[in-house]
Amino acid sequence: MLQRSGNRFNAQELWQKDHDHFLHPWTHFDSFKTDGSLIITEGEGAYITDVNGRQYLDGLGGMWCVNVGYGRNELAEVMAEQGRLLAYANPFVNMTNAPAAELSAKLAEIAPGSLNHVAFSTSGSCANDTAIRLAHFYHGRNGEHGRKHIISRFNSYHGSTYLGMSLGNRDGDRTPFFNYVTDFIHHLSAPYPYRRPEGMTEDQFTDFLVDEFKAKVKELGKENIAAFIAEPIQGSGGVVMPPKGYLKRMHEVAKENGILFIADEVVTGFGRVGHWFASQDVFGIEPDIIVSAKGLTSGYQPLGATIFSDAVYDAISQPGPDVWFAHGFTYSGHPVACAVANKNIEIIERDGLLENAQKVGDHFEKRLGELKALPLVGDVRGKRLMMCVEYVADRKTKAHLPDEINISKRISKLCEKRGLLVRPIGHLDVMSPPLTLTMAQADFLVDTLGEAINEATSELKKEGLLAA
Ligand SMILES: Cc1ncc(COP(=O)(O)O)c(C=O)c1O
Repeated sequence: MLQRSGNRFNAQELWQKDHDHFLHPWTHFDSFKTDGSLIITEGEGAYITDVNGRQYLDGLGGMWCVNVGYGRNELAEVMAEQGRLLAYANPFVNMTNAPAAELSAKLAEIAPGSLNHVAFSTSGSCANDTAIRLAHFYHGRNGEHGRKHIISRFNSYHGSTYLGMSLGNRDGDRTPFFNYVTDFIHHLSAPYPYRRPEGMTEDQFTDFLVDEFKAKVKELGKENIAAFIAEPIQGSGGVVMPPKGYLKRMHEVAKENGILFIADEVVTGFGRVGHWFASQDVFGIEPDIIVSAKGLTSGYQPLGATIFSDAVYDAISQPGPDVWFAHGFTYSGHPVACAVANKNIEIIERDGLLENAQKVGDHFEKRLGELKALPLVGDVRGKRLMMCVEYVADRKTKAHLPDEINISKRISKLCEKRGLLVRPIGHLDVMSPPLTLTMAQADFLVDTLGEAINEATSELKKEGLLAA
């Protein structure tokens, strides 16, 4: 492929600068100090190219976010045009800008039912912080000042601010070197059917999870609970598809108890599973608050949106003595980011990318399922363009391979050698390719991952780490 960037970069110099100065999200210091970073210099469609001119199919879609694919001139032009016209506008109190006003109305149009109001931020983490602050404010304005507790789930990921990290609870993220909010945040079991308790049917598992929620409500007292927060499909916790009926029943319990239901759709929103949002179209629920980011701008600009219902808006805005919603950011409704989001949504509509995600996503999901036949594969799960493969040493006991083998990384490296990027997380390789994925690219992804798994299996056997 012709590199647009030509030889403008000095690979070794960049590697060194990055190595010496950039503290990356989730740095693993031991390996980083020796390996440093893979330097990406350009992208086109579903492909990215590194500084040495090697091209990869980006099976991650950036970080679950490059939904319309790379290299969209239209988006670059919108950024430049808005930058020239008005690069920044103060959003506080009663000033606005055209892209933010347009985007808030568009989000109200595409979000389910009565979710007609939006608070903007700059990331999924900040959009989740906003959702929690909104929930507290809502109950306070309704005179229910005790409702401060938040119920979340294990395996969830809600971002990396202090509050976001405390809402989430993935094993690998919790370390004694950090601190977490524990006084008002609680975690229920992950709705992880593959690893449900031995001897339980999937329906019994759903009952168990719903009962656990009810018991937690009883224990804390509903008058003390502000919200339940859930990713409709847990993303970096392992692309966990909840058991049938789970979300609907959890939503019912929340409603019955006056608890706001927050759907963190930072990953599942904007087409990843073939719809603008998964809550209603996939799971049949209308949350009180939907949190979005990532695909909202396809990663071309940082932007988060917390979209909430008329009922929440009516409560927070009810007449009262000198009430201020004292929350928001310098960059709330940033004109360049909002202009990009408007164009991004237009592209998704114009190019039929929701439909493509449905069609190619169904094919991808079905073909990826074929990998279940491989001995190292315990589970293949997810929906459409949000999928993962879980590796096990023993399919009967579901025991994982020893951590030192680092199986997902080993397999992802073998994919990389073949021109494919997938994302290793623990014992899983995760995929979230752009919504523009073609059938042929979906096949390449599955075939390449399959070859890499086979090669890793042979290597492990040769090394005596797997029974021959
Ligand atoms: C479900 C979910 N919520 C929130 C976030 C945090 O988003 P950000 O990294 O933009 O802060 C992520 C990021 O991966 C996510 O997957």
